[in-house]
Amino acid sequence: MAKSTTPVSDAVLVKYLNEAYGKEMQLETALKAQIALAQRPALKKGLQDHLKVTKAQARGLKKRMRELGGKADAGPDLPGPDVVADAAGAASSLANKALAAAKGPVQALRGTSASDNELRNARDCYWNEAEEIAHYAVIEAVATELGDRETAKLAKQYRKEEERMQALLEREIPKIVKAVLKEEVPKQERSTATSSPARRKPAASRKPASASKPAASRGSSARSTSSARSTTSTRRKAAAKA
Ligand SMILES: [Fe+2]
Repeated sequence: MAKSTTPVSDAVLVKYLNEAYGKEMQLETALKAQIALAQRPALKKGLQDHLKVTKAQARGLKKRMRELGGKADAGPDLPGPDVVADAAGAASSLANKALAAAKGPVQALRGTSASDNELRNARDCYWNEAEEIAHYAVIEAVATELGDRETAKLAKQYRKEEERMQALLEREIPKIVKAVLKEEVPKQERSTATSSPARRKPAASRKPASASKPAASRGSSARSTSSARSTTSTRRKAAAKA
């Protein structure tokens, strides 16, 4: 594939592609741990499908970096001052692997119940998708600016794939929340929670009513006092005349 950009702009693109690649590698391990723990069939299937997508994305990123003269795992092969970026790429790659290795067992242990664990994993997955979306939005914008249509197209496709996973999580999270509350909150409290907005409503409407009542009565009492004074004054005048 002929390069659409210059060596310098290729290096800039490889820098961002490599960071997205590092994120994909990190997620591959995390997704495997989450699949093992997922209880809901829809979530499990979604995670399994997304693991395949993630692996394909990593392969695609690696391929694109090679085409641009870069290298995935050890960071981009950049000339001159960009050797620093190469070292940074290698470091971030190692850090991602270490983070992913640490994250798997942690995900297996945390949470107060199985559903709580599943909810926490779905929440993590959600922000991971958000981070990936940000990576691909950046890559698409950089590639578009540099006139690299091939990379822009790849980033756009990957961003949409991440958005699909995020949408699935958005649908699943409220269902997992229900399961968590069912496991962790006594039934009578859940039914109280359901009815509480209706219970709060009259309470809230009573407050202004009770607050306005004295005001209204103060107003009427003020008026009656004033009227009483004027009556007394008229009587006094009448008495003085007499
Ligand atoms: Fe991904």
